[in-house]
Amino acid sequence: MQLIKGTEVAEKVLTECRRDIAELAARGKKPGLAVVLVGDDPASRAYVRSKDKKCKELGLHSVKHELPASTTQDDLLTLVRQLNEDPAIHGILVQSPPPKHIDEAAIVRAIDPAKDVDGFHPINVAKLALEDPSGFVPCTPLGCQRLLIEAGIQTDGAHAVVVGRSMIVGKPMAMLLMAKGKGGNATVTVAHSRTRDLAAITRQADIIIAAIGRPEFITAEHVRDGAVVIDVGINRVEDLIADKGYRLVGDVAFNEVAPKCRAITPVPGGVGPMTIAMLMANTIKACRQL
Ligand code: GUN
Repeated sequence: MQLIKGTEVAEKVLTECRRDIAELAARGKKPGLAVVLVGDDPASRAYVRSKDKKCKELGLHSVKHELPASTTQDDLLTLVRQLNEDPAIHGILVQSPPPKHIDEAAIVRAIDPAKDVDGFHPINVAKLALEDPSGFVPCTPLGCQRLLIEAGIQTDGAHAVVVGRSMIVGKPMAMLLMAKGKGGNATVTVAHSRTRDLAAITRQADIIIAAIGRPEFITAEHVRDGAVVIDVGINRVEDLIADKGYRLVGDVAFNEVAPKCRAITPVPGGVGPMTIAMLMANTIKACRQL
């Protein structure tokens, strides 16, 4: 069993980013990212902090807007429009999910597609479907694809089963895996919470992408011997012996699934660090293209 170390692959991506940043600096350009958080969800807050921290480590320009849960739709739209106009900002990310009174789709549509480093804007969703390389691909699925490539996993002709149909992971992941080219050319099945007899389908997979958002949902019965498993889940489960009172587990029951796998990602240290690394890469791409 091969453990796919996301932390190491992310470091490789970040090394490429540092080289690109130096190259842009020589031309007087510095990529800038604005990260916006509305409300005080602890997991979202932690993600936003680590995105901001990574930017600063790399020497990117980074602006963090932490807004109260009471922020109105209009206030948020005003901020997004300001960031669209700000020449020092090349990437804009509004952390999902926002509080219930915010219309997330309207916020995403307000972001300049050329600065939409999350790849959530309809223009970028369309560009992914059209295989137009000028678009932005959501960071998490992009990171998963890079993990497969770096781990030497053949996707060409393989049967990949994506479990989860979210706009952030499942749908773009399926599009990436079926696209032509490296890390693509797979036969893709998308399963989700309404899928009948899920295990019968995932057992046919050469590659399983678990993006359901339920702790340890994928168990040994879902996985055939020799499969490759990418675990996108980051779930906080109560753990009274842990310092913070919780521990992080994936969507895959790692201990029972790992022995059956050809390769598997751990949680933490798998997909998580890749998401942030791809965000840095997307911000650099935005700076180049703007
Ligand atoms: N929430 C969970 N993942 C993401 C992400 O990649 N981008 C944003 N904006 N919100 C998220």
